[in-house]
Amino acid sequence: MSKKIFNSIWIVALAVLLASLVFIMGMTYSYFSDVQEAQLRIETELAAKGAAMDGTDYLEGLGKKNYRITWIDKDGTVLYDSQADSAEMENHLERDEVRQALETGHGESSRYSKTLSEELLYCAELLPDGTVIRLSSVRSTVLMLLLGFAQPIAIVAVLALALSFWLASRLSKKIIEPINALDPDNPSDYIGKEAYTEIEPLLLKMRAQQNEIAKNQAELEKTSQIRQEFTANASHELKTPLHAISGYAELLENGMVKQSDIRPFAGKIRLEAQRMTQLVGDIIDLTQLDGGADGMQWELCDLKSIAENAADSLQSAAAENSVELTVRGESASVRGIPQVLYSIVYNLCDNAIKYNRPDGKVSVSVAKEPSSVRLTVADTGIGISEEHQSRIFERFYRVDKSRSKEVGGTGLGLSIVKHGLMIHRARLELDSVPGKGTTFTVHFPSAE
Ligand SMILES: Nc1ncnc2c1ncn2[C@@H]1O[C@H](COP(=O)(O)OP(=O)(O)OP(=O)(O)O)[C@@H](O)[C@H]1O
Ligand SMILES: [Mg+2]
Repeated sequence: MSKKIFNSIWIVALAVLLASLVFIMGMTYSYFSDVQEAQLRIETELAAKGAAMDGTDYLEGLGKKNYRITWIDKDGTVLYDSQADSAEMENHLERDEVRQALETGHGESSRYSKTLSEELLYCAELLPDGTVIRLSSVRSTVLMLLLGFAQPIAIVAVLALALSFWLASRLSKKIIEPINALDPDNPSDYIGKEAYTEIEPLLLKMRAQQNEIAKNQAELEKTSQIRQEFTANASHELKTPLHAISGYAELLENGMVKQSDIRPFAGKIRLEAQRMTQLVGDIIDLTQLDGGADGMQWELCDLKSIAENAADSLQSAAAENSVELTVRGESASVRGIPQVLYSIVYNLCDNAIKYNRPDGKVSVSVAKEPSSVRLTVADTGIGISEEHQSRIFERFYRVDKSRSKEVGGTGLGLSIVKHGLMIHRARLELDSVPGKGTTFTVHFPSAE
């Protein structure tokens, strides 16, 4: 990166130097051209005056300067030329500068000489006797100018190159220095500092990403801990009925059970097996909901019918507990997974029956709201004290373990409810008074 910055600065410096050189040379060349033309004009006027007074003697006296001097007669015949034999020279009447001088008294032109590969400047002046004096000189080319300035240009260029090299390496080091000094693990330490103003958006992004990573890490750890606890709890819960089953079976196998006790023992084995089936069923449900209910069919469901079906399945359990279970309300459509909706209502009603008092009541109602469908499961049971209300949705959490065991609860019902509601984007409210009863209210997004 430092090399890249150095190269960029260096290239820019070189480009600026080259551009300035071209610009200055252009300006100087145009200035020198003007000076050269003005000088030729003055020299021509002087030569014309001298020739008018002293004729060719004056012109010869000038010697071979930087100019070529030609004296042309009215008819174009060359009378004198400082660099050639005038007798052999062709008629000059048609030359631009000569024609202009004959017409207006003064003429100027420039022509490219192929033989000399140079551009020649011409300036002509009419003498009082009607003849014309013409001076010509080679126009300085840019190359000539450059050669003339070669030494100062070289000195300036070397100095400028050395200076830009030094500046480029210093600047690139200065730019890179704070980046090298940066500790990527603590971007917050540099936010707001002057040396880091330009890369502040990057630092903010780094900080946000680090926070995100830390959050994800914490979530992962929490999930992994929940999984571990879940596995340990599930194994433990499965072990209890298995122990009971194998104990009863062993007694039966060893013939240690009276004939009259065989039936009740078989009944106990069936009950424990039922508990295991129920538990395994719950674990399967939870695992499925954990995966976001992938592959399960979503459809328009009538929540009232689902509530009635769940209540029908629980009527006998309600009767056993001498609890009155009723479903009221109106048909209301919800978009959801029928078996998950069923298990939500089932688990809420199951709890309302299990944790009720004799001759208690469970009222299920379904009602349409402006933008949602409301399901209420209210009971007149033992209630849940405030300290337990936030924890009852945890897996295997039971307020009163011995009571739950008595009624066959393993603490997975409300976890299934919580996950099911999350998948359906439903909101849950819990209102409970210990000793009086509990009301669970769920608001499902309306499908209409
Ligand atoms: N309606 C209620 N009234 C009083 N306590 C309740 C009620 N519903 C749940 N609870 C308390 O919350 C705990 C957790 O309920 P959850 O449904 O998750 O488990 P469970 O009913 O014990 O077992 P499972 O539903 O797996 O058979 C229960 O053990 C109980 O203590
Ligand atoms: Mg339950």
